[in-house]
Amino acid sequence: MSIYPLLPLSAIVTLLLFVACYQQSEEQVLDESQALQAAQVKESGVDFQHDIYPILHRSCMPCHNSGTLPQVIERVQNTDFPPVDGDPGQTRERLLAELEELQQAMRDGLPLSYTNKEKVHQNFAMLPGEMYLLLEKGVMPPPWGPELLKAIGWEDYKPLTAEERVTLLRYAKPYSQPFLR
Ligand code: HEC
Repeated sequence: MSIYPLLPLSAIVTLLLFVACYQQSEEQVLDESQALQAAQVKESGVDFQHDIYPILHRSCMPCHNSGTLPQVIERVQNTDFPPVDGDPGQTRERLLAELEELQQAMRDGLPLSYTNKEKVHQNFAMLPGEMYLLLEKGVMPPPWGPELLKAIGWEDYKPLTAEERVTLLRYAKPYSQPFLR
C-alpha cells in the first residue's frame, strides 16, 4: 500500500489540531485579558465608593447628574453674568447650549449621569476610553466649569485637583486601555 492516500488524512488531522489549538488560545487570551484587568484594578488600589464617588460628587456631579443638571441649567438661564474667564467666546448662551446638549445626551440614553458605580461602568462600556481621554487632555471638567458654577452660586462645587485627576485616571485606565488611541 502506498503512503500517499494517508497524506490527506494527516493533513486533515493537522488542520483539526491547529483549529483546536487556535480556539483554545483565543479562550486563553480572553481569560488572560480578564485576569489582567482584575489585576490592574486591584493594583490601581482605587476603590469606587471610597475614592472615586466623593470626587465625582464634588467635581462632576452638578452637571453629570440627571437630578441636579436641570437646576444648573435653570440657574444659568436666570442669572446674568459676563463671559466666563473674560473670554468673549464663553458667553452665558454658549455654555447654556453645552449644558443643554449634555442634558439631551442623557435623555437619549447615554450614561452621563455619574450617580453610582453601575452608571459609571456603563459609561466605560458605552463610551469606551472617553472618560480617560477627556480627563487626560484636561478638557473635563470643562475649564469654564468652576467659574460658571461660582457665578450661579453653586456652593459645594470643588474644582478637580491634579491629584484627584490622577486618581480618576488610575481608576478608569484598566477599563479604557484597549480603546486608547
Ligand atoms: C460644568 C459642568 C460640567 C462638569 C463639572 C463636568 N462636566 Fe463633563 N460634560 C459637560 C458637558 C456640557 C458635556 C457635553 C459636552 C458636549 O457634548 O458638547 C460633558 C461631557 C463629558 C464627557 C463626554 C461624553 C461623550 O459624549 O463622549 C465625559 C466623559 C465627561 N463629561 C466627564 C466628566 C468628568 C469625569 C467630570 C468630573 C471630573 C466632568 N465631566 C465634569 C459638563 C460638565
